[in-house]
Formats: sequence, C-alpha cells, structure tokens
Amino acid sequence: MKDLVFDLIDQEKVRQSEGLELIPSENYVSKPVLEAMGSVLTNKYSEGYPNFDGLTDWPEEKIAEEKLSNYRYYGGQTNVDRIERLAIARACKLFNADHANAQPHSGANANEAVYYSWLNPGDQILAMNLGHGGHLTHGSPVTRSAKIYKFIPYGTDKNGDLDYDEMERLALENDIKLLLVGYSAFMKIPNFKRVAEIRDKAEKKWGHEILLMADMAHVAGLIAAGIHDNPLKFGFNVMTTTTHKTLRGPRGGLILTMGNVGSPIKKVEEKTLANIPTLVDKAVFPGTQGGPLEHIIAAKAVAFGEALKPEFKTYAKKIVKNAKTLAEELKKRGFVLQGGGTENHLILADMKKSFNINGKIYEKALDLIGLTLNANALPGDKGGAFKPNGVRLGTPAITTRGLGEKEMVKIAEWMEKIAKLCQGYEKIRDFEKDHAEEIKTLREEVKTLSLKFPVPGI
Ligand SMILES: Cc1ncc(COP(=O)(O)O)c(C=O)c1O
Repeated sequence: MKDLVFDLIDQEKVRQSEGLELIPSENYVSKPVLEAMGSVLTNKYSEGYPNFDGLTDWPEEKIAEEKLSNYRYYGGQTNVDRIERLAIARACKLFNADHANAQPHSGANANEAVYYSWLNPGDQILAMNLGHGGHLTHGSPVTRSAKIYKFIPYGTDKNGDLDYDEMERLALENDIKLLLVGYSAFMKIPNFKRVAEIRDKAEKKWGHEILLMADMAHVAGLIAAGIHDNPLKFGFNVMTTTTHKTLRGPRGGLILTMGNVGSPIKKVEEKTLANIPTLVDKAVFPGTQGGPLEHIIAAKAVAFGEALKPEFKTYAKKIVKNAKTLAEELKKRGFVLQGGGTENHLILADMKKSFNINGKIYEKALDLIGLTLNANALPGDKGGAFKPNGVRLGTPAITTRGLGEKEMVKIAEWMEKIAKLCQGYEKIRDFEKDHAEEIKTLREEVKTLSLKFPVPGI
C-alpha cells in the first residue's frame, strides 16, 4: 500500500498548483533541482570539505579528470568532492566572493556559524531591530545566539529606510565586534558604502577589527543577477544567505566570504578578518554542524548553475517589475505601503491604516481564496508578532510561474475585495460563514488563473 505521506505530497502539489504563492521568502525550484535533492547522494557521509586548491577560474568541464584531494573524514568521496567543488566555485562566481561554504543546513545555521567564527560569549553585535524588519537570528531573545551574545538594535527611519545616523551613533557608543545588515521585511536597497564607513569609524574608535556582515537571505537572487548592490563589493567580509528564496534553489544556507582561503583542518587560525574564510569553514564544520547534506549541496550547485545563465537575469528583473506594478496597483486601491512602495521583491502593507483590519485575519481570509501571504509586524506595531497590523508579500514565486503585469492587476483587485469584505470581523469563522458565496466565486477565479501558469516540476 502507498504510504500516506505520498498522498499528502500529492495534495500539496494540488494546493501549490491551484493557488498563488505570495510569501516573499518562497519560490518554486526547477525539475533538475528537485532531482538532485531526491538523489542517492543522501546516502553519503562526507564530514569535512573538498580541497579548495585552484578553485578560481577552474574549468568545470575538466572536473571528472581532476585528481582531487580533500579534508574529509570518510572514504568514497570521489563524486561528492566534485559536486561540492562545483557548488563552491559557482557560488564564488555568482557573488564575486573569494570563498564559499555551501554546507549550512539553513539560513539560521549560516548566521549562527558566522557569529561562532568571530565572536566570544558576551560580545556585542549591532543588527536590525526585529520589529523594523530584522530576522529572528539578529537578536530575538528566544534564540540561542541572543543568550550568548549581546545584540544592540538599530531601526528604520520615517521614510522606511535604514536609520544610518542611529546606526553610526550606536556603533560609536557601544564596543561592537560585529555590524550586521540584513532583514526579512525591508523594501529598499541598503547603502552598503555608508555602512562600511560606519564600521571603519567604529574600528578606529574601539581599536580592533569589526566584522562587517550582510544577511542577504531575501535578495541574494537579485544580487546574483546583478540588479541589486552586492555588499561584498563595498568591503563587507561576509555575506550569508538562504538558497531557497529569490535564489530559487533548495532549502538551505550559504556563506560567502572575502579573505585568505586556508586549510580548514589546520589547528590554530589567528582571529583576523583576513582569515575569515577559514574561520567560517571551521565554524560550520566541526563548529556547529556534522555531516553535510550532499544531496542538498548538489541541488544548490544546480541552482547556482541556473542563476549563472542569462535567463536568470531576465527572471530577476521581472521579479522587481512585478513587485513595483503590484505595489502601484495596491496603492491605487487604498493600500498604505511601508516605505511608500518597493525597490526589491517585497511589499509590506499596513492593513490597519489601509482598511482598519489586522494582518492576521487578512492573511486567513486570503488563504480561503488561494492567495498565500503572511501577517507581519510593522515598525512599532502594537499587535506584536501574534496579531500584527501588517502583511508581507512578494513576487519571486509567481514570477517563476510566468505571471506578469496583467496578473498583478488582478491580484490587487482580489486583495482589495477581500480587504473590504474583512472589515469589522474579528474571527475568520464568522467571515467565512457570512461571505461563503463571494469566497467561492473568488476561489474559482484564483484557481482558473493559477492553473494557466503551471508550477515547475509538477
Ligand atoms: C534575513 C533572513 N535571515 C535568515 C533567515 C533564516 O533562514 P532559514 O529559515 O533557512 O533558517 C531568514 C528566513 O526567513 C531571513 O529572512
């Protein structure tokens, strides 16, 4: 008998096909990425790393002929070494980095490893306030890192941009060891040059090196495509990212580093910024992780290969065009947007100011018609994480399916209808009961449009 799990996977395929994914951190991977993930590589243990010698300008076609050595703790690495070298080399090429670590199991693991590579318990990190768009791993008290290190938060200004003046003030008031720019809900392109200058001033003031880190989990695909500034070009030492958002690879993490690439198995490595590539390698394995997921690393390599193709640049441009169109269409319909719109793939709408409803009921109501997004706190939100007044949405996934500007108008229309119908409701059950007919009609409309744009790999 077929395992029930596969029935549920089939049902998920239907859900994904018949609805539209507007969560900005999600995407649909290609069939080759899916195939690499579901491959026999999952059977292999390969603690350690391939050898990094000669990774720059290295001809991929010659990979099968190359005699590789490695820093692994198990035998049988012939193929795995080659696959991981492909992932590392392609990642370096995509982001103009000196080195890459493709092993982090997730974005959170990548951040944790970077902190561990550079900091001692009690050290201070200047990072973006969670309530202003930062990520949990940037200092939420519920995380392990917040118990080990001390996070100092900076926020956004009244225009929705990073508050660089506040960042500078805090960097000069507090003896920080790490300055982090990164976010899960921010719609502008950061001024990386200004941040690097703030780091330089703080280094002078405190008399020691400060690690400059960017967590580009959301916009890595846009950076890879060259349509968003790359922090590594502005003096950042480290860039972490997830591989599954705009980058359109498997779920996972990636760390790009600048500096000298050394042996990850040599004993002592001086804690200097120049040595950060090796310090990070050691911090990922054995510092914070065990055996790498080579099937996922293979899928990352496939996705990086896709992102290196010219088509990916076209895709990334369309993501931003769709996001800008959707933002404009929403504004026309009375939506108040944080920062007045978007410069990337992400939109944050203030549902309280726009329609006097909270983000949570709106998220649930949209779910009923097959539009998936997430409730999200706004800067200074009194509703907190459980009943926030905002919603966050984005265009990476629907752009992969081929939706364009015409469809953005349609989505904005559906969103307006549901927002107006939601007014005055506290409980989703009451809303569902009172508006069953309208919900049914809109659900059919969303389904019909969705099915015209197949999900890759289904
Ligand atoms: C900025 C940022 N960093 C890190 C992460 C964590 O990634 P993961 O969920 O893969 O651990 C996210 C995820 O949403 C993110 O937005």
